[in-house]
Amino acid sequence: MKEFETIKQRFLESLSACKSDAEIADLKAEYLGKTGVLTALMQQMKDLPADEKPKHGAAVNAIKVFIEDEIIRFKEKKYQERLTEKLASEKLDITLPGNQQTPGVRHLLNQIVEEIEDLFVGLGYQVKEGPEIETDENNFEKLNLPADHPARDMQDSFYIDPHTLLRTHTSPVQVRTMIEKGGLEPVKIICPGKVYRRDDDDATHSHQFMQIEGLVVDQNTSMADLKGTLLKMAQAMFGEDRTIRLRPSYFPFTEPSVEVDVSCYQCEGKGCSLCKQTGYIEILGAGMVHPNVLKMSGYDPDKYQGFAFGIGVERIAMLRHGIEDIRHFYTNDHRFLKQFKR
Ligand code: PHE
Repeated sequence: MKEFETIKQRFLESLSACKSDAEIADLKAEYLGKTGVLTALMQQMKDLPADEKPKHGAAVNAIKVFIEDEIIRFKEKKYQERLTEKLASEKLDITLPGNQQTPGVRHLLNQIVEEIEDLFVGLGYQVKEGPEIETDENNFEKLNLPADHPARDMQDSFYIDPHTLLRTHTSPVQVRTMIEKGGLEPVKIICPGKVYRRDDDDATHSHQFMQIEGLVVDQNTSMADLKGTLLKMAQAMFGEDRTIRLRPSYFPFTEPSVEVDVSCYQCEGKGCSLCKQTGYIEILGAGMVHPNVLKMSGYDPDKYQGFAFGIGVERIAMLRHGIEDIRHFYTNDHRFLKQFKR
């Protein structure tokens, strides 16, 4: 019996030193395997007197059960230890504050484009866009600006090759639309988009800026329609009480052509520094579509007339928000941009 106790103690010591399942399996084989310790004990039985045999057999069996139970307990204990360790190392602190995701703001220029689009869609216009890389033909020729026309200097351009350039205005989209309609259907569109001119960038000039041009072509279109439309737009942009003033001007693609001023929203027309004491602020160019332009895009100028206008989006934004430098729109300083939450 003493020997049995020693075997148990030795086994328990070896078990507690085991570091892996493989070591436990080896230990188990050492005691319970075919050539193991318990088999040897069983073999001693044949040398014992008959009356001691049952006791001996039962004791060996008891050790076997003991060893099996201890192995299961030990494995369970090790598993719990590993689990506790793992839980501690992977602890998630749900009380930590999350990363703040500050929502972005629509760029002020896009806000204004959308506002103008909404207004004109409400008046039955379609929004049309076109490519920023254009043919000389669409950008100039078909707008009554042949190659040697001095007015081309008004729009110093970035040429890619002799026939291709970065569009200097969104008027080529109007040309494309008229040609698409084949000179047969009325046109009522606005064309927002980026345009490019060779300018030295400073507070009021940028080699890239945004424009919205509008075009209406139909069989009964007059200067009065143009004026009414522009008044609506000026009031939507600068307040219900605004009036507009048209001054004669020149554009190769319109005849007659006008510059359009809006009554000053700061001094109500009395004269202030914003309107340079004139009571009016220039906001856009417009006119009746030149018969040559209609003809070149397939419309019969004896039947169809049209009006067109072009607005600089930056200019509207600068006026409305008192922004003194056009470069703010493109340098992407968040402190500037996020002021304009709608
Ligand atoms: N296309 C002109 C420009 O970019 C603007 C304009 C459009 C003027 C339509 C008159 C009529 O300068």
